[in-house]
Amino acid sequence: MCGIVGYIGHEKAKEILLRGLEKLEYRGYDSAGIATREDKDVTVTKAKGRIAELRKAADNDIDGSAGIGHTRWATHGVPSYENSHPHQSSSERYTLVHNGVIENYEELRDTYIPDVAFVSETDTEVIVQLVEYFANQGMTTEAAFTKVVSLLHGSYALGLLDREDKDTIYVAKNKSPLLVGIGDNFNVIASDALAMIQVTSEYKELKDQEVVLVQRDQVVIKDLAGNVVERDSYTAEIDASDAEKGVYAHYMLKEIHEQPAAMRRIIQSYQDEQGNLNIDPEIVKDVQSADRIYIIAAGTSYHAGLVGKEYLEKWAGVPTEVHVSSEFVYNMPLLSERPLFIYISQSGETADSRAVLVETTKLGHRSLTITNVAGSTLSREADHTLLLHAGPEIAVASTKAYTAQIAVLSILAQVVAAERGRETNVDLLPELAKVTAAIETIVDDAPKMEQIATDFLETTRNAFFIGRAADYNVSLEGALKLKEISYIQAEGFAGGELKHGTIALIEEGTPVVALATQEHVNLSIRGNVKEVVARGAHPCIISMEGLEKDGDTYVIPHVHELLTPLVSVVALQLISYYAALHRDLDVDKPRNLAKSVTVE
Ligand code: G6P
Repeated sequence: MCGIVGYIGHEKAKEILLRGLEKLEYRGYDSAGIATREDKDVTVTKAKGRIAELRKAADNDIDGSAGIGHTRWATHGVPSYENSHPHQSSSERYTLVHNGVIENYEELRDTYIPDVAFVSETDTEVIVQLVEYFANQGMTTEAAFTKVVSLLHGSYALGLLDREDKDTIYVAKNKSPLLVGIGDNFNVIASDALAMIQVTSEYKELKDQEVVLVQRDQVVIKDLAGNVVERDSYTAEIDASDAEKGVYAHYMLKEIHEQPAAMRRIIQSYQDEQGNLNIDPEIVKDVQSADRIYIIAAGTSYHAGLVGKEYLEKWAGVPTEVHVSSEFVYNMPLLSERPLFIYISQSGETADSRAVLVETTKLGHRSLTITNVAGSTLSREADHTLLLHAGPEIAVASTKAYTAQIAVLSILAQVVAAERGRETNVDLLPELAKVTAAIETIVDDAPKMEQIATDFLETTRNAFFIGRAADYNVSLEGALKLKEISYIQAEGFAGGELKHGTIALIEEGTPVVALATQEHVNLSIRGNVKEVVARGAHPCIISMEGLEKDGDTYVIPHVHELLTPLVSVVALQLISYYAALHRDLDVDKPRNLAKSVTVE
């Protein structure tokens, strides 16, 4: 969701900005633009649609060694040339990119600049017009920018160019992510380190409501009172090649294939020298002293949380609730006396989850973030972090992050169980090694998954996923994967629930994907399959070795019953991938979706 880049140095900014924006494409966007500053001119180039369109529009001799760039995911106003960023003030002195949502933009407009004519429908334009307004009152640009930042309510990451100042990009953030990258004789800004990893791996974090002057040879961070703040930089541990597709047709396919490697990295990262599972004792202590765990997450991460709850309750013995962050923030349930909050977020930036973290921190509750991105907002602001070690996930549809989240939660639950002296009858490390091998088998079976996609999903408009117990959780994720990239209307149900309404939708040939990997409910789920078949459904049964029956569509290798979500989901990921591919859709960048949802 909206991305920002900026560069100030001695090279031509245009190409650096465009490449940076290409690296941000994965976040989701519907228009893009850049502004570069040359002599006393700022040139703005914008285009609706993909960066490729922007490249065409920028196919001229734009010069300038400073500039800002933006990918926009529409919130205020439709995707259009006028609404895309950068936006300029009336005199064109100031040029701005913004990520986030300004809640009081109408009030600010009516209070300070009621007579200014706006060219866009965006909240952003108010910011740039306000900077000009205060500058016209005699303030320096820094003072005007600082004043505006102090007036804004909402979320923002901002990059501002001043036509009268060739040496500075003015930068500020609140809730929305933004980093400053440190180079040799140049500096950059970016929504995430991945966008600029090609030019630097040294970054400085910014705190909310700081004003930052990014110049060629220095970065000055100030608080709103104008006091200079010293901040060390850190090295982003991203291999630039991790962010490339390599031999794969799509990032999603690459990321599905990377799951065995990610599992091995997790197994290695959470082991001590003696080969025992190992989690920071402070985290274990916080889990142990909690009387209830609240898992807060969105999308695929929420589905991983549902699986994690099984481990935390069944192995660690801690009552656990799983909540969608966008609901929890406005409708908080009655909390237990000693809650621990676990935030699961691939990106570590999901605004709804962050909003909950802000609230629960205010209430004095302890927190743990499980994320793929070290240094992300949720990681920085929670008491503890557990990293997924899955490597950058670029495709909008999350795959390897889901399995990594589940694996990390399983390890956490086992370590807590051991600490509490609870017998779980699971030797997790060898079980995870079996899971890894099973995922490899499924990935190697990709041609079979492609055939299943052809047989069951080629022409359908809808599909249902059913499962019981652990399979129910996976059916939710399977349905989400399919709908987000193939646009087939898909829903996941508890096996017994379908007949309480949705079975009315079953017609001749309706695909029903049934997961049958749980021994204690195997007969029941097969009974549910019979019910839908009797109404004309086309059943795709995914079972597990030891539980298979003649006619099953695909049989996954045998793994521990509670770890099956790590394996069966890989089959569903591949089936969804091929279903979308055969429909000729943009698998990695599905319509309307954003990878990193940084607005509430
Ligand atoms: C978006 C993405 C999903 C992701 C969800 C939560 O909707 O498209 O893939 O599961 O956000 O994101 P998070 O980064 O918090 O896991």
